[in-house]
Amino acid sequence: MKDVLILGGAGFIGSNIARTLSMRGDARVTIADNFRRTGGRPDEVVASLQADHGVKVISGDFTAAAAYDTLPRFDDVYMLASVVGVDYVNSMPDQIIRMNTALILNTLEWLRDKGCARALFTSTSECYAGTVESFHCEVPTPETVPLTVSDVSHPRFTYAITKMLGESGFIHYGARLGFDSVIVRYHNVYGPRMGFKHVIPHLAQRFANSESPFKIYGHDQTRAFNYIDDAVAGTIAALEKGRSGEIYHIGDTDEITIETLVRHVGDLFGYRGEYENAPTYPGSVSRRCPDISKAREQIGYTPNTEWRDGVERTITWYREYLARNPALTESFYDNAPKGRRG
Ligand SMILES: NC(=O)c1ccc[n+]([C@@H]2O[C@H](COP(=O)([O-])OP(=O)(O)OC[C@H]3O[C@@H](n4cnc5c(N)ncnc54)[C@H](O)[C@@H]3O)[C@@H](O)[C@H]2O)c1
Repeated sequence: MKDVLILGGAGFIGSNIARTLSMRGDARVTIADNFRRTGGRPDEVVASLQADHGVKVISGDFTAAAAYDTLPRFDDVYMLASVVGVDYVNSMPDQIIRMNTALILNTLEWLRDKGCARALFTSTSECYAGTVESFHCEVPTPETVPLTVSDVSHPRFTYAITKMLGESGFIHYGARLGFDSVIVRYHNVYGPRMGFKHVIPHLAQRFANSESPFKIYGHDQTRAFNYIDDAVAGTIAALEKGRSGEIYHIGDTDEITIETLVRHVGDLFGYRGEYENAPTYPGSVSRRCPDISKAREQIGYTPNTEWRDGVERTITWYREYLARNPALTESFYDNAPKGRRG
């Protein structure tokens, strides 16, 4: 049995990694989180990880170095703790810099002290979104693409800048200190319980509110949506089979327009009204689709969920959630939805 730590393990992706690893039966799984995302307290998913899967839960704000004093050495460390979401990035870019940088550097300094066998850092396609926009790089995009900060003074780049630091930090600390480190760059991961700061749940909320005419923000933009089960399989494969110091694009290759997605979600809701195209929020990349051939070859990663199936499962979950919480009064899943997505 190996000991596995998932920092940010109460979150959307982390909780699914925790469940998958604990069900496999060859790991003792610990999650560490401050439950920022679920209103400062563990939700029923975390309770189930503890009660049904024997996952150990450590509560702490890991932007403080002292929080790491409670952690023993682990064999595998998944680093997912981060403040995530376009609204946060645009409204508090200083805090994105402070919190995400502190989480990364504290984790690396703790690894300098305690060590581990293998560590994985979770990065983002946002690191190369500037390259797509400014230099029209190839799409589907491979890991070798240069990373670009098109405008250092624009708040939206703060998130990508901290993720670039994390990529470089994990690669170099690992190489110097003798632990294996692997980076994954996610591309639009979605699924049940993903929060409300993403396009698909936001659509669910807008269709549930019977918005009409239904505005399609950024209708001609494209994305390749990556279902949570595939993202989890790719993440675990990257940590366990990835080559140290390497970056892997984890995503799907079925690139669709936002309009295609919106109309499909509308069909699932039985929407019969008008649609109206509208501009998207500034700085949103026009195309996004990863080249996953490196992940296919080196870690055996294959996304298996067709986007219509994944979207239907996700929408079903959100319809039930919204029916149970019509006013969204609870400070849950990053509070009530704000801003425009899709
Ligand atoms: N979901 C995506 O499509 C996507 C895309 C690109 C990158 N990522 C990255 O993957 C990782 C996981 O994403 P997610 O969608 O599961 O996000 P999430 O917000 O659900 O999970 C992040 C977790 O980190 C925790 N956290 C935040 N600040 C903390 C602190 N100070 N101390 C301890 N825990 C703290 C949150 O409470 C949350 O549980 C993140 O690092 C994110 O940047 C996700």
